[in-house]
Amino acid sequence: GKVGVLFGGRSAEREISLISGNGVLQALKSRGIDAHPFDPGTHSLADLAAQGFDRVFIALHGRYGEDGSLQGALEQLGIPYTGSGVMASSVGMDKITTKKLWLMEGVPTPKYATVDADTDLDALVAELGLPLIVKPPLEGSSIGITKVTDRDQLADAIALVASMDDAVLAEQFVTGREFTVAVLGQGAAARALPIVEIVAPEGKYDYQNKYFTDDTQYHCPAPLPDELTQQIQRHAVNAYRAIGCEGWGRVDVLVRESDMRPFLLEVNTSPGMTTHSLVPMAARAVGIGYEDLCVEILRSARL
Ligand code: DAL
Ligand code: MG
Repeated sequence: GKVGVLFGGRSAEREISLISGNGVLQALKSRGIDAHPFDPGTHSLADLAAQGFDRVFIALHGRYGEDGSLQGALEQLGIPYTGSGVMASSVGMDKITTKKLWLMEGVPTPKYATVDADTDLDALVAELGLPLIVKPPLEGSSIGITKVTDRDQLADAIALVASMDDAVLAEQFVTGREFTVAVLGQGAAARALPIVEIVAPEGKYDYQNKYFTDDTQYHCPAPLPDELTQQIQRHAVNAYRAIGCEGWGRVDVLVRESDMRPFLLEVNTSPGMTTHSLVPMAARAVGIGYEDLCVEILRSARL
């Protein structure tokens, strides 16, 4: 049947989605799949409905693509789609709600506070310590994130987030190593791929170093003791299942230097699929090439 690859979109991560989606589109076409591009950022839902897609591969990131709203539209249209459903997509997009659920399910995540106009900033610093991280709860690709090392930077960091999101998330900074875990499948069948370690220049895995420099190093499988590897993978699967994720996703993790304890940061329900991206890297480590990965994800599409 006719397959739509949805990419582009209207979020701040549009640029990344264009790269992800082109990669997916070429991969599916190379396997003889009748795949066609569709950009919900420039075309309406009525246009989408008129395409006659039998199923769609969602290669959109961020708002209106990864946050459940498009998934809801596809449910209404009766078009099977890849990845998580409405609820897991919207919960996964919101880092604050994600952390609340994880804390209930025993998934370790850095201590945090939600900041609003009434928040006493000195009390916030006293509670979380410095440095601390200020981030928009509804963005991806490190957009809007500030590492606040000095009390004087805090107000600007909060103002930046307040200009993009209704809520502001402040999180304790975890000094240590950075990892990510791809998860495939759903429910009891969800499984983690090998862990990727990310070693960014000066520990700064920001938008630039994520996609546009070749200075970031990746190690997969991550050089960690077996026991810690299994613990992190178990947490990642639990974190994914706690949100109700389906199909595929990627959980970002920090391991604290002082005691090697893992802390989970967030789940990405429509992860990057660029040549720099980490789900393809993890899949490669178990012998699944980029094209096969795209085909496998497409096969998992459902309503
Ligand atoms: N939000 C980006 C695309 C990722 O997590 O891969
Ligand atoms: Mg993210």
